Amino acid sequence: GQQAEALPRAPVVTVMGHVDHGKTSLLDYIRRAKVASGEAGGITQHIGAYHVQTPRGMVSFLDTPGHEAFTAMRARGAQATDIVILVVAADDGVMPQTKEAIKHARAAGVPIVVAINKIDKPGINLERVKGELVTEGVVPEEFGGDSPFVPVSAHTGAGIDNLLEQVLLQAEVLELKASVDSLAKGLVIEARLDKGRGPVATVLVQSGTLKAGDVVLAGSTYGRVRAMLDENGKPIKTAGPSIPVEIQGLTEVPQAGDDFMVMTDERRVREIATYRAGKFRNTKLAKQQA
Ligand code: GTP
Ligand code: NA
Ligand code: MG
Repeated sequence: GQQAEALPRAPVVTVMGHVDHGKTSLLDYIRRAKVASGEAGGITQHIGAYHVQTPRGMVSFLDTPGHEAFTAMRARGAQATDIVILVVAADDGVMPQTKEAIKHARAAGVPIVVAINKIDKPGINLERVKGELVTEGVVPEEFGGDSPFVPVSAHTGAGIDNLLEQVLLQAEVLELKASVDSLAKGLVIEARLDKGRGPVATVLVQSGTLKAGDVVLAGSTYGRVRAMLDENGKPIKTAGPSIPVEIQGLTEVPQAGDDFMVMTDERRVREIATYRAGKFRNTKLAKQQA
């Protein structure tokens, strides 16, 4: 068939950093939302996916947990992204999961924009934090490096316009493109079994357009998209490149990190899913026997 034309797409930006350095608060400020204050124990325990119309264009954000228990989620967040915002609290500096986040960003080969957060707090020392980051190999542009450093406050909003501008400048350089007019492909960000709705998956569309009614293969499961909700729980009919969306209609819960793709031949989709599920079981069995 004919190759669908690649068009500019919104950047996917993953927010990473040590626990409580203010990742969710920063996104709350950008989205004018209040996610952080509603979290159990003040701890993020899943990947939040949002898209936001900023004055300089659309951006999709993935919010990752900073708690040390969630290494796999951070790795997935970095793999799904174009750019990492590394949040470092000015009063705390570089901490273990700051270093871990740097490793994930490096492994994924994506640019890092540093947000030095909580600058509203008294007695902070920006130079000290910068020095700690340089030690980790994250070097600000002013010292000849390639990472913009932006002091911000998620509480007052100071510096956040500048942060978004730096992110969009990085995105411009990347010249991000994807086809719009093709069958959707992407990544499963999260998945769970909902009591009322059955298997529910948050997917990030990376190319093409996902439509209600599409037949999808997701890892070793499949199904017809029965309903799609945006991040505010609002029903939507289509989702194009860089858009995160929650889908219903899969027969099983896929694994976070699975690829998904829309296919037209429903019988073929079922065959592939069944084959993959069998292979998965065999792999598990083989591991247990080893
Ligand atoms: P995890 O997702 O659990 O790793 O935390 P997080 O990085 O998302 O941090 P969160 O947004 O939950 O904020 C942690 C605490 O820091 C909360 O009490 C926030 O109110 C506070 N906080 C976040 N940003 C700022 C800021 O700019 N200034 C001040 N003073 N406090 C902040
Ligand atoms: Na927190
Ligand atoms: Mg958080």
